Amino acid sequence: MAANWTPQSWKNKTVRQVPTYPDAKHLAEVEATLAKLPPLVFAGEARRLREDLAEVAQGNAFLLQGGDCAESFGEFGANTIRDTFKVLLQMAVVLTYAGACPVVKVGRMAGQFAKPRSADIEKKGDVELPSYRGDIVNGIDFDEASRVPDPDRMLRAYNQSAATLNLLRAFAQGGFADLHKVHQWNLDFVDGSPQGERYEELANRIAESLGFMEACGVTAESVPQIRETSFFTSHEALLLAYEEPLTRQDSLTGDWYDCSAHMLWIGERTRELDGAHVEFLRGVHNPIGCKVGPTADPDELIRLIDILNPSNDPGRLTLISRMGHDKIRDTLPALARKVAREGRNVVWSCDPMHGNTITSSSGYKTRPFDRVLNEVRGFFDVHGEEGTYAGGVHFEMTGQDVTECLGGAQAITAEDLSARYHTYCDPRLNASQSLELAFLIADSLKAQRANRRSRLAAAS
Ligand code: PEP
Ligand code: CO
Repeated sequence: MAANWTPQSWKNKTVRQVPTYPDAKHLAEVEATLAKLPPLVFAGEARRLREDLAEVAQGNAFLLQGGDCAESFGEFGANTIRDTFKVLLQMAVVLTYAGACPVVKVGRMAGQFAKPRSADIEKKGDVELPSYRGDIVNGIDFDEASRVPDPDRMLRAYNQSAATLNLLRAFAQGGFADLHKVHQWNLDFVDGSPQGERYEELANRIAESLGFMEACGVTAESVPQIRETSFFTSHEALLLAYEEPLTRQDSLTGDWYDCSAHMLWIGERTRELDGAHVEFLRGVHNPIGCKVGPTADPDELIRLIDILNPSNDPGRLTLISRMGHDKIRDTLPALARKVAREGRNVVWSCDPMHGNTITSSSGYKTRPFDRVLNEVRGFFDVHGEEGTYAGGVHFEMTGQDVTECLGGAQAITAEDLSARYHTYCDPRLNASQSLELAFLIADSLKAQRANRRSRLAAAS
């Protein structure tokens, strides 16, 4: 049990990026209601993800984490969930097959609502209003009433998360994720594109391998991993008024778990050592993540690691670097080297999205796809040079055919962005761009595994 920690101890620290609710009594009532609602995930599931991530930390598996920047009440629906899940399955299958590596699948889904903002106030013309902080806090419309933080939104977010999780569990275990359906995961608008065709080829090879294995007696009946998969949920643990009431003591171990998701992470803007978010997450036993941006200092990072993972357990802590395509080769080496030299067990994952956000000439917040690819390449190169393990990737993506990020095989231009720009916060990769990225990562992963094998052989 973490020393001097309670689910409320974060309240003694400085808390950043939280809304000011106008009605404290209403907030307290909602928190009391949330505290009585059933947990969304179970402690045993969070422990299982920790074990899977321990395999990643040791270089035996790879983490794929992705989903919306911000889930919303407006875009909620079975098809949206299904299509994002399909693309994540496709990416996972590309990585598993081409990279010959087990893939741990974690959605930014079923709880990814609250958003940190660079400014508290949004200004349009002469009008100034509180910034939009995600549907769990206030409304996106630029009018005074929408922007007032409303605690009831936490209950709606909880209910939407429960329904999303229910569908995800059904998809993962009810036959949809059966490897025999690998052809059906391709989305219509990706079919026929270069990525779609490359995926079809791979799906054919998988079908062939399954046929061969069946002939040898390895079937979905004898090996359940063929017909079902493990899928976990995650989000940024930003809104502590929501996270705290969903934090429960596990009856088996007595440990505390934040039961709003399997994995929670700390954002780049709230990772200060003595801040409320670090205090809150140090005490829960879920696997946790922490974003690491270009201003991170190696000594400070070690102090942060020691607060969040004092017993140095592999699988407990994932460091998600988000440097920017032009900075990663300069900033990541010293951090990766320091962590390795000090013997700290972490998973290194790459978020190639948040350091590469720009405003397009057409006025949209966007991300050039080639910069996203470049940051991923830089991530693998740096870990290759440092002898550390590039363990995962973290993306903002959707299964919808959106036009939010520039470039990719569809060559989306600044003028195209307005066609289907639907995000509630940051621009996401669409299904075709996500698949393109998966093929690039698979190549890097394959090379990394070959290098590690030859290094290990040389050392023995
Ligand atoms: C995010 O992941 O949506 C996010 C806000 O990231 P970061 O904390 O790295 O800026
Ligand atoms: Co984002």
